[in-house]
Amino acid sequence: KNVAVVMGGYSSEFEISLKSGAVVCESLDTEKYNIYPIHILKKGWYFISESGDKHSVSKENFSFKNGDITIVPDVIFNTVHGTPGEDGLLQSYWDLIGMPHTTTGFYQAALSFNKRDCLSVLKNFGIKCANSYYINKGSEIPSEEIVKKVGLPCFVKPNRAGSSFGVSKVNTLDQLLPAIDKAFKEDHEVIIETALVGPEVSVGVYTNQGKLVVFSPTEIVSENDFFDYEAKYLGKSQEITPARISEEETIKVQNEAKHVYSILNMAGVTRSEFILQNGEPYFIETNTTPGLSKESIIPKQAREAGMTLTQFFGILIEEALS
Ligand code: DAL
Ligand code: MG
Repeated sequence: KNVAVVMGGYSSEFEISLKSGAVVCESLDTEKYNIYPIHILKKGWYFISESGDKHSVSKENFSFKNGDITIVPDVIFNTVHGTPGEDGLLQSYWDLIGMPHTTTGFYQAALSFNKRDCLSVLKNFGIKCANSYYINKGSEIPSEEIVKKVGLPCFVKPNRAGSSFGVSKVNTLDQLLPAIDKAFKEDHEVIIETALVGPEVSVGVYTNQGKLVVFSPTEIVSENDFFDYEAKYLGKSQEITPARISEEETIKVQNEAKHVYSILNMAGVTRSEFILQNGEPYFIETNTTPGLSKESIIPKQAREAGMTLTQFFGILIEEALS
């Protein structure tokens, strides 16, 4: 089978995506799959050959030249974080041209990538979430009303972004406007949420032969004020799998992660974040193309579950093809 490993993208998460893509390329079983790395860049989409040559990918059917041969992938392994690989744009294009891919459908991807809309749907299904306030660029910013609703400290986040780009923890009222300005650099919508108190845990869920499988939760202990970009990728955090929480809490948060996956009708591997406040899981967000870099959580959870990455990524491909 021809597997196109798609990476890059148009957002700040571009470099992390290249790292995720590289881990997938080096882990896939070369006896079973022909592996084609594809870079999705603003200026074009390219297959990067072993010698480093770039060949344009056709937007008509995602085919490309490898030497004299035209390759049409059998399946896409999607590792684009942020737009256009995590917000449903590429998914809708692949769905239209009938190309199987390892990620969730376009609507589910778009919904989960929009923090406000995702929280609002999940709350309707009884999932506990922090209080939040939404603003878009150009709308009035009633600082005092916001703080009245969400309290202090709170988190200010771009509504549609990942890897903590543009996220700040706000402790005092005068920090609010600068934090909102920073978040607006990533997206023209911003969400402000109550800072919950308790251990942060991250849980991977995937489908294997039609059945949901949940990984052992990872506990995130950040040296910084929160699990920001530096903590995530520059070693300023500890990720402990399995999380140091009770068995009851583990089961609760795993069930909640599976529930989120089912409500949102996901496919492939996703990773949801929760804060356990007074022993109850509060949903923070879910990632439909979670990081697969060496520093990322899903590869650690797969290894902890006794799988090699070769086995785990193989399952995701076979699931996409089934
Ligand atoms: N958005 C990053 C890549 C993650 O969720 O792992
Ligand atoms: Mg995220």
